[in-house]
Amino acid sequence: MELNEIYEVEKKFDAEIEAVAALAELETIRVKYLGKKGYITDIMSKFREVPADQKKEFGQKVNALKNKIENKIEETKLALEQKAIEAEINSTEMFDYSLPVDTETGSLNPRTIIQKQVVDIFKNMGFVVEDGNEVETDYNNFESVNVPKSHPARDTQDTFWLSNGQLLKTQTSAAQNRILRTYGPVCKVIFPGRVFRNEQLDARHENTFFQLEGVVVGKNITVANLIYFEKAMLKALFKKDIEVRLRPGFFPFTEPSYEMDAKCPFCGGRGCQTCGGSGWIELCPCGMIHPNVLKMAGIDPDEYNGFAFGLGFDRLVMIRTNLDDIRHLNSNNLKVMSQFKTKM
Ligand code: DAH
Repeated sequence: MELNEIYEVEKKFDAEIEAVAALAELETIRVKYLGKKGYITDIMSKFREVPADQKKEFGQKVNALKNKIENKIEETKLALEQKAIEAEINSTEMFDYSLPVDTETGSLNPRTIIQKQVVDIFKNMGFVVEDGNEVETDYNNFESVNVPKSHPARDTQDTFWLSNGQLLKTQTSAAQNRILRTYGPVCKVIFPGRVFRNEQLDARHENTFFQLEGVVVGKNITVANLIYFEKAMLKALFKKDIEVRLRPGFFPFTEPSYEMDAKCPFCGGRGCQTCGGSGWIELCPCGMIHPNVLKMAGIDPDEYNGFAFGLGFDRLVMIRTNLDDIRHLNSNNLKVMSQFKTKM
């Protein structure tokens, strides 16, 4: 065994490590030089044959070579791994977080926008904002608002009944009893909510829609107060005075009952597509709260009275935006929704 042999192995290693292009090849080289049957082990095993005077230098040289090979293999391994990562990065479509954002921003459902506007307007007029349940009892949805079991008015609100006898509320009026009990007898409360009816769907009917109900209870409340609040709301919403008219209506929970129409804010009453040529838009069913409803909420109708009204948000949106199909509002179709950003 001569020192020369060590140099030969080193030269061979230098050439081979230089040519390595993949991690698998590197492993082959590692086994070939550092493995149990590798060159270094082989050289070490011949240590005995080395003349005594060369043993020291021989030992140092072998150790130095072994260290060099180990280091070089580790170094090459890291370099190859780094190269593999870079190759993967280059072959993948990367998301560059530093790029300026030019994606479309989302938009709220126009119904949500209108709801917020209307709620804010009533809040500014001193109304408390309340909520209601979506699953309700027959008592709250019907009986407590003067619609007993056999009342024909039930037929006008096709109901989704649940197997436990409860129902999906068909009207925000379902919260009247609870709210009047909580806040009455002197109160001004609005309560927006989602309502459900088992309707045949078409461009003007959905099975899920949104209403806002309002109640005002106090002493000597009159229809003039009702008209005042509705007109104030319309003025704030449409940013101009809107004329209203009352037609007789019928609701079991109000007496007298009215249908409030607004003079079409688009044509000013001349007649257009939005108002169907009539110049008026049916906007807000309302009336003076029926004494039975007050009684059932624990309020003495001889001492207090009040008014109630319902507003359909979907209808308001359709009026505001000229939307021709109510079903768009529940579709979550982003192409439709995004058009309202500028319209409202
Ligand atoms: N609850 C009625 C409906 O959904 C709307 C309504 C009418 C509410 C008159 C009222 C009211 O508070 O006074 O058809």
